[in-house]
Amino acid sequence: MSPLVETREILDEIRTLFADKGNDMYAGEPVSQTEHALQAASAAEQEQASPELITAALLHDVGHLLHKHSADCAIQGIDDLHERIGAAWLKQHFPEAVTEPIRLHVDAKRYRCATDEEYLSRLSPASVLSLELQGGPFDAREQKQFENNPWYEEALRLRTWDEAAKIPGLATPDLEYFLTFVQRVLEHPVDLN
Ligand SMILES: [Fe+2]
Repeated sequence: MSPLVETREILDEIRTLFADKGNDMYAGEPVSQTEHALQAASAAEQEQASPELITAALLHDVGHLLHKHSADCAIQGIDDLHERIGAAWLKQHFPEAVTEPIRLHVDAKRYRCATDEEYLSRLSPASVLSLELQGGPFDAREQKQFENNPWYEEALRLRTWDEAAKIPGLATPDLEYFLTFVQRVLEHPVDLN
């Protein structure tokens, strides 16, 4: 398959995922999955993040669109492991600069909860519920391990955009706009291994 055809197919797959499941509510939050993704990508772009990080922000919760659990599975005590499902799916096509911050975005929450009391107090009720299922705040050894990951700063930035992306009715550019960044990453992979 030519790279151009492949890029088109990947973009179409992403469009289909958002068309099929993007209208689901982002569990326990006042925005849909699509609104959440667009707000996160928009926050990344406003901070002049790289195309890889804007792509990561847009697709950080793609695991929620891929898994078979219901949108409110956390309420039923199920951790959907969406960060791993999403990163593994994206790894087929995207470089680590996209997939690693995504794989680490739950760890970034656990890290921040351990190191920033104010952050913990500001978490939404839904995020507190999922934190418990995800293993709670990191202990000292886990914090060190996280800091040793070469992508940890990007994961923390992504986490900030994730937390901010829960504003009902916020105007953002649409999916097609942000897919131009995704396309750029697919056509010019900087660290695909
Ligand atoms: Fe998120």
